[in-house]
Amino acid sequence: MVQVETVHKTFRGKKRKKTEVLKGISFTAEPGSIFGLLGPNGAGKTTTLRIIATLLKADQGRAYVNGMDVTKESRKVRNSIGFLTSDMKLTGNLSPRELVTFFGRLNKLDQSTINQRLTTLSEYLDMGDFLDKPVEKLSTGMCQKASIAVALIHDPQIIIFDEPTNGLDILAAKTVVDFLMDYRKQGKTVIVSTHIMTEAEKLCDRIGIILNGELVTEGTQDELKARYAQQTLEDVFFHLAAAKGVTQNA
Ligand SMILES: Nc1ncnc2c1ncn2[C@@H]1O[C@H](COP(=O)(O)OP(=O)(O)OP(=O)(O)O)[C@@H](O)[C@H]1O
Ligand SMILES: [Mg+2]
Repeated sequence: MVQVETVHKTFRGKKRKKTEVLKGISFTAEPGSIFGLLGPNGAGKTTTLRIIATLLKADQGRAYVNGMDVTKESRKVRNSIGFLTSDMKLTGNLSPRELVTFFGRLNKLDQSTINQRLTTLSEYLDMGDFLDKPVEKLSTGMCQKASIAVALIHDPQIIIFDEPTNGLDILAAKTVVDFLMDYRKQGKTVIVSTHIMTEAEKLCDRIGIILNGELVTEGTQDELKARYAQQTLEDVFFHLAAAKGVTQNA
């Protein structure tokens, strides 16, 4: 389970100008379900996920991963999450097998456990053809699958994926979406961010819509449609964006 409680974050830009990019975000993601953070560019999705993943500190508020405070027990939190973000691109001449092995060893896994998990992940993600090719020679989709395998080699309970299908073709995107739905079935807590409405509709049990650093609403798709008397999730999104005066992407 992941609990985010009134998290605030301010960045200082040029001339020490302050911008509050998270203005008190709260939500809970339960085991065996997929929580989606849906919002336009610059809304604060990545910042929120980085705080949960212990890569960034909140200025105010708290976040808990399986009851552990992300700032006080950051090492344990890191061991129990698999974090995927576009900030971390795999490059160089190591192969997916070598990279996964390296990260597996960092997580203190023995070689047979690494091999076993890599076989499972590779079957799920259809990686057999490129497991031993240098990542610099792989397509975007192949690299993303390799990054997913690296993020999940320690078999974490909590999965936090920032725009996991960004830049992927529909086949690769479907593999990733099906994979996440299967992980949900295994009882994992999954959080994804996306700005793709159809993906959120297909994938997410609960959705939080984030606009300008505020989580303006949260609930199941049916709850959101009923709450704002709208036919589709897209309609809910445009309704809220108009109400908040968000007319274009940042
Ligand atoms: N390290 C940083 N320093 C200063 N400003 C930052 C930093 N990281 C993010 N921001 C700003 O915070 C705001 C929220 O950024 P964030 O990356 O969380 O948005 P996002 O919802 O993930 O957007 P996108 O869909 O483009 O990935 C943006 O205005 C961004 O420019
Ligand atoms: Mg982002």
